[in-house]
Amino acid sequence: SQSLRLGVAGLGTVGAAVVRMVARRAAALAAATGRDIRVVAVSSRDRTRDRGFDVAGLHWFDDPVEMARSAEVDCVVELIGGSEGPAKAVVEAALAAGKPVVTANKALLALHGAALAKSAETAGVALAYEAAVAGGIPVIKAIREGLAGNAVSRVYGIMNGTCNYILTRMEREGLTFEACLKDAQALGYAEADPTFDVEGFDTAHKLAILTSLAFGTSIDAEGVSVEGISGVKPLDLRMAEELGYRIKLLGVAQATEAGIEQRVHPTMVPKSSSIAQVMGVTNAVTIDADAVGELTLIGPGAGGEATASAVVADIADLAAGLSRPTFGCPTASLRPAERVEMQRH
Ligand code: HSE
Repeated sequence: SQSLRLGVAGLGTVGAAVVRMVARRAAALAAATGRDIRVVAVSSRDRTRDRGFDVAGLHWFDDPVEMARSAEVDCVVELIGGSEGPAKAVVEAALAAGKPVVTANKALLALHGAALAKSAETAGVALAYEAAVAGGIPVIKAIREGLAGNAVSRVYGIMNGTCNYILTRMEREGLTFEACLKDAQALGYAEADPTFDVEGFDTAHKLAILTSLAFGTSIDAEGVSVEGISGVKPLDLRMAEELGYRIKLLGVAQATEAGIEQRVHPTMVPKSSSIAQVMGVTNAVTIDADAVGELTLIGPGAGGEATASAVVADIADLAAGLSRPTFGCPTASLRPAERVEMQRH
C-alpha cells in the first residue's frame, strides 16, 4: 500500500509518545486506513535523551523547517508548541510546500489560525488539530463532525488539566499552589511556561478554537476575558466547600443577544453537579446543541499518551483521505458578533 511518511517536529512528552504510538499501532493503522504510516524523520534540540525509541533508523534534522521542506516527508506533525518561533515557521513551511499538518498547538491556532487555515486552503491540504483542545478527548470531531446537524448555543468546561490537577490536590490534600504546580510540571502536564496554564491563557486559547468551530465564527482569542487560578487560596477552597461548592477553572462560550460571549475564570460549581466530580488532569466539555440537547465529554486533558492519541487520530484521518475545512467554515467569512462586556456570576 502507498505509505504516508511523517516528520515529527518536537520530541517532548507528546512528540515522543506519538513516535512510539505510530510504531506500536502500525498494523492496526494500516488496516484502518489502507496506508502504511511511518515516522521517517524527527527534529528536536536534544539528541541524547532516551525517549523510549530508537532514533537510529530516523532522519534527524536539527532544523525543523528543513525537515518540513524535505522530499522525504509527506506530512508534518508539529509538537514544538508556542505561538511564534519555530512552531509557526514549521507549520508555515509545510503548508507552503503543500504538505498537510497535524498539530497540538492551541496557542498557534488561537493567535494565527485564520491565516494558517487560509494557507492550508490555498494549498488544498489539511491542517488538523484534534490534540490542541482537551488532550485525549475527541472534542473537535464531536463538534465539527458529530454535531454538524446542530445549532450550538453554548460550549463550556474544564479545558486545562494542569489547573484542575492543582485545584484537586489543593482541595483534597491541603497542599500549596506551588507544590501542586511542581508536580504537574514533573508529570508533563504543564506548558513549557506554566503561566499559560495557571493564568488561564491556555484555556482561553482552547476556548477560542471551540468557539470558532461551534459558532462558525473566525477565531477571536483576544475577545476572551481571562482570569486564572494563581489567586485561589486554600482558604477559598475550604470556604467554597463549606457552602457546598467546588472551585473549577471554566471556559465558557455562549451565544447571547448581544453576541458571542467568551470567558475564562475560576467558578463556584455546586458539589452535586457533574462538573464538580471532574478531578485531577481530567477535562470535561459540555455542549448545548438544539438537536441533541446537552452533551458532555469527559477524559484526560493532558499527558503524553492521551495527547498522542488525538494526534494519531488526525494522522489516521489524513491517511484515509478524510479532511474538512480547518474551522468547519470558509476561513474568516464570518466575524464574531459584537463583543459583550462580561458579567461575573
Ligand atoms: N498544559 C495543558 C494542560 C496541556 O494542562 O491542559 C494540554 O493542552
